[in-house]
Amino acid sequence: MDIAESLLFTPGKIGQLSINNRFVRSATYENTANSDGSITEDYLKIYRTLSKGNIGLIISGMIFTSIDGKSYSRQAGLHSDHVIQSYSHLTDMIHENESKIFAQLCHGGRQTQVQGLSPRAPSVSRPDLIYKIFPRSMNHKEIVHVIKTFGDSAKRAKHAGFDGIQIHAAHGYLISEFLSPFFNSRNDEWGGSSEKRFRLLKEVFESVRDAVGTSYPVTVKINIQDYTPKTGLSLEESIEHIKRLVDLGIDGVEISCGTLSFSMFNQSRGNVPVQAFAKTMPLPFRPFTRLLLRSVYPEIKFRFYENYNLWASKDIKPIMGDTPLILVGGLRSYHALEDILNRNEADFVSMCRPFIRQPLFVKNWSEGNVKPLTCTNCNNCLGGIALHEQLRCNRNRVF
Ligand SMILES: Cc1cc2nc3c(=O)[nH]c(=O)nc-3n(C[C@H](O)[C@H](O)[C@H](O)COP(=O)(O)O)c2cc1C
Repeated sequence: MDIAESLLFTPGKIGQLSINNRFVRSATYENTANSDGSITEDYLKIYRTLSKGNIGLIISGMIFTSIDGKSYSRQAGLHSDHVIQSYSHLTDMIHENESKIFAQLCHGGRQTQVQGLSPRAPSVSRPDLIYKIFPRSMNHKEIVHVIKTFGDSAKRAKHAGFDGIQIHAAHGYLISEFLSPFFNSRNDEWGGSSEKRFRLLKEVFESVRDAVGTSYPVTVKINIQDYTPKTGLSLEESIEHIKRLVDLGIDGVEISCGTLSFSMFNQSRGNVPVQAFAKTMPLPFRPFTRLLLRSVYPEIKFRFYENYNLWASKDIKPIMGDTPLILVGGLRSYHALEDILNRNEADFVSMCRPFIRQPLFVKNWSEGNVKPLTCTNCNNCLGGIALHEQLRCNRNRVF
């Protein structure tokens, strides 16, 4: 095995940006920002560790673009000029170590735990077990406002030194909700057909593009399958959207799946951290958490198998032309990743949970130590986030 020859360690491009290797740290929410959205020393600590790991591209955890789109109280924001300065330490640190960093911009939509917000969504619908809220339907003016906040936040991200943007259109947050026939039952210009459901993402992309210019990388994370109880975004419709994005000039697409509210553990497959979720339930319901979870997720355990979104790549890669495809979801072993690139099934390989447990594994692999990754998909990292703890692996606390 010759590491130096491996495609994994050859540079790749996203738009005009050169990336040192093909490894991407997929967006991972940190839960360590100040309440005003600026970032803290704890936030920097996570990235200081990651910056030492030779990762080609690091994508930040989801960053809110406006207060009404904030999902978690300790979430980082780019909603206001006053936070820009706090990010410059972050971006400098990543650049000193020759990695690149993108800001993942997100509006939470119905998926918010922030008290006092009136959660917004494409359409009114029932509460879910995770967020336990009744979302209300957004009006035209509110939608137009959200579009503008993405452009404004992208401009701030560029000023703060980020190398590019990822628009979060996956996992059941606002843009994903608009794309999904399950969440979006509108019958106006924002819903009712695939093209109309796509309109929010299209206008968000255009707003971001106008704000940052054509030479700055703008990418999207999108679901290939929502796995909601009733039909959500399917592969067929996702392909239509990806074609539209490519025609609009997107610089890269990361494919993922699942929605936190209605199919959470499809997104990050493995165990359901039942004990952590019990603690988020109102006291009288706690003893019944397992039962409740089982009623919503009958399998209770989401079978993990490696590369669980790869099946979609054979249909998506051919429509992307020269636009890079970033694959995430259960990527774990060196040889499998190498095969994915060698077979041209993706251009970049993206991982989340392995970097929480072993932030330096890319560096170790580059030195020839290609041991399998030790993440067990216990999902206690997600359980910790649900309990408002800072991001960490409780089996290997590296930050
Ligand atoms: C603790 C945790 C936080 C996450 N935060 C985000 C996020 O902020 N934005 C996002 O797009 N995905 C987020 N994800 C999903 C991951 O980016 C990724 O799509 C998913 O975990 C599958 O990849 P993996 O098997 O390598 O973990 C998160 C997942 C975990 C476990």
